[in-house]
Amino acid sequence: MKPVKVGVLGLGTVGGGTVNVLKRNAAEIARRAGREIVITRASARDLNRERICDTQGIVLTTDPYEIINDPEIDIVLELIGGCGPVKEMVLTAIANGKHVVTANKALIALHGNEIFARASEKGVMVAFEAAVAGGIPIIKAIREGLSGNQIQWLAGIINGTGNFILTEMRDKGRDFSDVLAEAQALGYAEADPTFDVEGIDAGHKLTILASIAFGIPLQFDKVFTEGITKITREDVEYAEALGYRIKHLGIARKTPEGIELRVHPTLIPARRLIANVDGVMNAVLVKGDAVGPTLYYGAGAGAEPTASAVVADVVDVVRALTGDPENRVPHLAFQADSLADIPVLPSEEFRTAYYLRLHAEDKPGVLADVTRILANHQISIEAIIQKEALDDKGFMPIIMLTQITLEKEMNAAIAEIEALPMVNGKVNRIRLETLG
Ligand code: NDP
Ligand code: HSE
Repeated sequence: MKPVKVGVLGLGTVGGGTVNVLKRNAAEIARRAGREIVITRASARDLNRERICDTQGIVLTTDPYEIINDPEIDIVLELIGGCGPVKEMVLTAIANGKHVVTANKALIALHGNEIFARASEKGVMVAFEAAVAGGIPIIKAIREGLSGNQIQWLAGIINGTGNFILTEMRDKGRDFSDVLAEAQALGYAEADPTFDVEGIDAGHKLTILASIAFGIPLQFDKVFTEGITKITREDVEYAEALGYRIKHLGIARKTPEGIELRVHPTLIPARRLIANVDGVMNAVLVKGDAVGPTLYYGAGAGAEPTASAVVADVVDVVRALTGDPENRVPHLAFQADSLADIPVLPSEEFRTAYYLRLHAEDKPGVLADVTRILANHQISIEAIIQKEALDDKGFMPIIMLTQITLEKEMNAAIAEIEALPMVNGKVNRIRLETLG
């Protein structure tokens, strides 16, 4: 049988890793796919740049459209990133009848609904395993492995750069900016690293996970995102003292009222496996009604872990080439005409527990005022630490854990606590999940 011809757009971290893996494991991959898979063309902006891969035997160009419009190419790998010119490249490749494999979560989260519709019209596949959690086959696990379940919730560490920064800061006391620079040098970070540290990249990934878990359209604009930039060393230490770790989680939960989609720093019990996922590693917990809790773990970023997912998609596409296009695994796990219009809840409707840190004058009655406000909002306190040592401004730190409450009530309570004359500055709030 004729080899399948692949064109690669982008020869950076992921593109370079993909070329290496496809070349190194060519024989093993062909045995799995049933066909030889050959990269015949690739594009990059600067052909003089030193590459992490050997491009011998590959025709190079600076113009991605030479590949997209080449009738010889069967599968286009979009490994450039972003949503600018790339959206048109992918739509043109689809219009030309080519199958597409992409690692681009921003593109799928923002434009996936349109891209999948066009792909279905043309009878081509768009595969995106590498877009979520790097090398972990989480899309396949949810879309195919758990297809007998009603997914109840999922929670994941889904940004490698952010987890790498939090781990290095906690374990080695390193500076935020210093660790971020290392993550960039290692090729983990997005072209704009604020996507990593402000939770936008995790929001893109959560959009995709929620869609395939609950059978809803992709809707990134409804995801609540909070980044890791405001996590302080003292919060990390207080959390540890209370038996918790702070992790940056993406959480999607189906409730009777609607779906919660949220990305934020989260206290989780230190005994949970996911609390011990460190460095660039990612992990996703998925709870199905039949299977119960399941956990998926692996490298969340980097050249070859991500290439592992890209190449697996290429093999899937090659295996399905001769099959009936009407009977392929649907892009978003559920049949396109069966996606449900379940409401996504605004943040005021979230239900979660909280860690609160505030600083107050060391006078009698402060704690009574604070607890009265919480009680007025039906918020029960789980634990309180009142530090004897005053902070550097002479105020007394008070740390509290609450039971699960409505975010709207917590917002109102925090506003009232901050208005107390004896309370100094803002209340620092971090959401808490037991993931039980
Ligand atoms: P890189 O910046 O390392 O590589 C991007 C590649 O695209 C480069 O080869 C670059 O050319 C080329 N390129 C950039 N802009 C254009 C353009 N306008 N037209 C044509 N070519 C262009 O990115 P990554 O490999 O890190 O990321 C690629 C995709 O994979 C992104 O969507 C990212 O989110 C995703 N991803 C990344 C992971 C990682 O660990 N890095 C993990 C999972 C997904 P040149 O080299 O000449 O500059
Ligand atoms: N910048 C992303 C991360 C790459 O650090 O997780 C993998 O998607």
